[in-house]
Amino acid sequence: MEVGAIYLLLLALSGISSTLSFYGDSLTFQPAHKQKDGTYKVTFHYRQNGRSSCDDKSLYTCESGVCTSFEESSVLQTDQDDTGQGRWCQSEMHTTATVRNNQTSFSLNQSGCCWESNVDGKTNWISEAELDLGSRSDSHAFNSCPLTTTVSYLRVPQNCFSPIHILAHDPDGDLVRCRFSSNAAAPANFTLDEMECVLRTTGKVDIGVHVFELMLEDFSSKNITLTYSDGTSVFREGSDMESPPLCKMKLQFSMEILPPLSSCERGRVQPVFLSKTPSHGDVVHATMGQNFQLNAQAKATDASIEDFQVSGPRNMTKEFNAGQHGIAELTLSWTPQHSDLYRIVPVCFTAETNQSQSEMRCVVVLVTQAALIQGSATVTCSPNKMAVALDKASMPGIDVNFLQLRDSSCSLTSNGTHILGVMSFSTCGTKLLDKGDFLVFANEIRSYELPSEVIIRRKAVKIEISCQFPKTVSISSYYNLQKSDYIFTESNFGSFGYTFEIYNDNNFTSKVEAKKYPVEVQLLDTIYMGIQAESDLPSVTLFVESCKAIPNNNPENVIFYDLIKNGCVKDETLVVYPSNQKTYNFEVQAFKFNGNYDQVYITCSVILCEPGTPYSRCAQGCLSDPSRRRKRSLVKETVSHSITQGPLRFIGHPDPSAAMDHNLVVIKKRPDMDVKPVVMQQSRRTAEVILPSVFLEDTKSSPESWGIKEILSANTSTLVFASAFLVSLVMLVGVVVYFTRKRNEEDHNSLLSSGYDN
Ligand SMILES: *[C@@H]1O[C@H](CO)[C@@H](O)[C@H](O)[C@H]1NC(C)=O
Ligand SMILES: *[C@@H]1O[C@H](CO)[C@@H](O)[C@H](O)[C@H]1NC(C)=O
Ligand SMILES: *[C@@H]1O[C@H](CO)[C@@H](O)[C@H](O)[C@H]1NC(C)=O
Ligand SMILES: *[C@@H]1O[C@H](CO)[C@@H](O)[C@H](O)[C@H]1NC(C)=O
Ligand SMILES: *[C@@H]1O[C@H](CO)[C@@H](O)[C@H](O)[C@H]1NC(C)=O
Ligand SMILES: *[C@@H]1O[C@H](CO)[C@@H](O)[C@H](O)[C@H]1NC(C)=O
Ligand SMILES: *[C@@H]1O[C@H](CO)[C@@H](O)[C@H](O)[C@H]1NC(C)=O
Ligand SMILES: *[C@@H]1O[C@H](CO)[C@@H](O)[C@H](O)[C@H]1NC(C)=O
Repeated sequence: MEVGAIYLLLLALSGISSTLSFYGDSLTFQPAHKQKDGTYKVTFHYRQNGRSSCDDKSLYTCESGVCTSFEESSVLQTDQDDTGQGRWCQSEMHTTATVRNNQTSFSLNQSGCCWESNVDGKTNWISEAELDLGSRSDSHAFNSCPLTTTVSYLRVPQNCFSPIHILAHDPDGDLVRCRFSSNAAAPANFTLDEMECVLRTTGKVDIGVHVFELMLEDFSSKNITLTYSDGTSVFREGSDMESPPLCKMKLQFSMEILPPLSSCERGRVQPVFLSKTPSHGDVVHATMGQNFQLNAQAKATDASIEDFQVSGPRNMTKEFNAGQHGIAELTLSWTPQHSDLYRIVPVCFTAETNQSQSEMRCVVVLVTQAALIQGSATVTCSPNKMAVALDKASMPGIDVNFLQLRDSSCSLTSNGTHILGVMSFSTCGTKLLDKGDFLVFANEIRSYELPSEVIIRRKAVKIEISCQFPKTVSISSYYNLQKSDYIFTESNFGSFGYTFEIYNDNNFTSKVEAKKYPVEVQLLDTIYMGIQAESDLPSVTLFVESCKAIPNNNPENVIFYDLIKNGCVKDETLVVYPSNQKTYNFEVQAFKFNGNYDQVYITCSVILCEPGTPYSRCAQGCLSDPSRRRKRSLVKETVSHSITQGPLRFIGHPDPSAAMDHNLVVIKKRPDMDVKPVVMQQSRRTAEVILPSVFLEDTKSSPESWGIKEILSANTSTLVFASAFLVSLVMLVGVVVYFTRKRNEEDHNSLLSSGYDN
């Protein structure tokens, strides 16, 4: 693969933009594209804010040694102060640069005069950005720059400052750092949380206009290599913020500190957003050629909301309605054109009263293609899985071989008429989302491209599928980890699933009941576990490649203990029982992690093979040197999937001899042995491990997290649920809004109380 890179130096600068009363600006880049002739196309949108006139043309230019063409659109005013006081405006223009194929990065700058007169006494401003044009080894694509913008003019009463959350969305999921630009001092008594991109005050801030120059930079969180068109490449260590950023760009904005208000109670004089309004940071979808609407609602009982400021794309229209009880409504409408396809557009808004402003909220709008999401599909929801069938006839041009679920190791299968996929709620990247009164398990079918393909003739597909459950029904009662059914679909294997159970004895017939989880064990107990595979195919072989013990249900935990590794039994107490080729039963002596862990989960990575293939992973068995193993593409086997069971909880007195203070040590106690410490390795990442993201996200445990873990391990009876079970299925066609964040605290509480009220 030779994806090139480019050293793109888009030179800018030249004259001086002369907008008086400059309030700030922002840049949004669309990911670079490699064209047939090897040159790169870089498109960016530039928003500029000012007091009364915003339609000056910006003055970026590009050197001929860097660009072969540089096309700028006209400048279009996109927002203004509709109260007639001329206090703010915003304009947007876009530019497409064609960059020579010998460049490895692309930079851009522009300067101007003059900032709105401000207490910091700043006059000249500089706008700049630089992006790397290497192909990333993780996505096989160019880096996407962080997305950000602000409304034209932030206005905060002096005594009512609350932290300002600046949009810093990275489409690649990179780490984004926001810092004060190195050539600009931070205004007095303001500080920035660099990783969260939150602006705070540390003391009294002066009344008047303050100007802010921030630099947003993204860094891959994983190790990646960047490959350039001249064949050179550089390695970037994950989360290394000392190395050059993949993209850096400046965000400039002004904030007026207004005279203090008599009361800062939100919803009285200062407007507050009501729950109809999207949350800050939400990602919403718009469809090319279709009208997209975004609604916000704000309330101020003791002041009148007279307008909303909006930072949005050209041709987005704003409709303002003042209603009763101090409630005002904003409706933004936009019909993305063909040129907007796959654009990711930041949109921010605030509600305005004469003396103050609401918080600023920002969302990210992702533009997709209409053809993608038309067609007929059915989603069937069951208590533990979701099945989707797409009618091929309704979606011409769709290629099943290039479709995958959110977790890229899950693909789909097809019969003569339909494209089919089945997944359980814990597999294939299915996410648990909160939608007010409902809990939604959501996944998506999307197409992918091969890195070597320059031109794609297949249609791009993005279909959201979800199963929606009312919150009033306790989902814990049937969605239990211990009841886990892990279901996957792969093109060669159709749908298949695994169950992973704990048994009462070595007959492996009576399972430990669901309500007994977490399973209580004592240190010398023997634990019986069994994995069973089920497949559409009549004959398959199950292979257990690895099993490890972890202190929580995150298969990537850095603390783990290998029971089976590379198909080889590693723990001397582990005994495998003979059984049929779809079953793997074993016993192991109980042990626990030293330190503050009283629970253990077992996570195994499993593979199905077609029997009789000599080079399959199943046929190879225990491998002391797994690197010598043959390529999977030659044989018919699934990728390895990770399945987890637990927790086992330890009861009784802790063994005093097990008291060691190093957390990364496992203490195993056997009747015939002295205490034997095993030093844990630092984690390495197995590429094959699939992460049930529902669980993983939770383990990051933000204050807003749902405690899914608690829900999952709540021991409520399964029967309760059956009667109350109500599934609504939703095929989200058209504009789909999904909430990446918790809507509000009340929803959270109602979930918790209905979830496990016992
Ligand atoms: C802007 O770009 C020009 C041309 O590359 C460069 O000479 C100049 O130093 C840059 N200005 C800033 C402030 O980076
Ligand atoms: C790229 O090619 C152009 C035109 O051939 C040349 O002017 C420019 O100096 C080259 N740039 C680099 C970085 O090699
Ligand atoms: C910063 O805040 C402190 C404490 O509120 C105040 O005494 C000081 O004057 C402030 N500094 C400026 C420059 O306003
Ligand atoms: C990333 O690279 C560093 C430095 O080469 C290495 O120490 C580390 O193990 C790598 N991490 C992963 C997850 O590969
Ligand atoms: C915006 O709307 C104007 C007129 O309503 C139209 O001429 C123009 O093509 C539109 N521009 C875009 C980028 O959609
Ligand atoms: C808004 O406030 C300004 C001064 O703060 C005042 O001059 C103006 O009359 C007010 N406008 C309205 C509509 O209340
Ligand atoms: C393909 O599967 C779908 C859904 O299960 C079914 O309705 C359809 O009849 C199947 N088509 C064929 C040709 O088997
Ligand atoms: C196992 O099963 C056999 C017959 O099915 C029965 O006789 C025996 O008691 C069972 N053992 C245990 C420990 O339950």
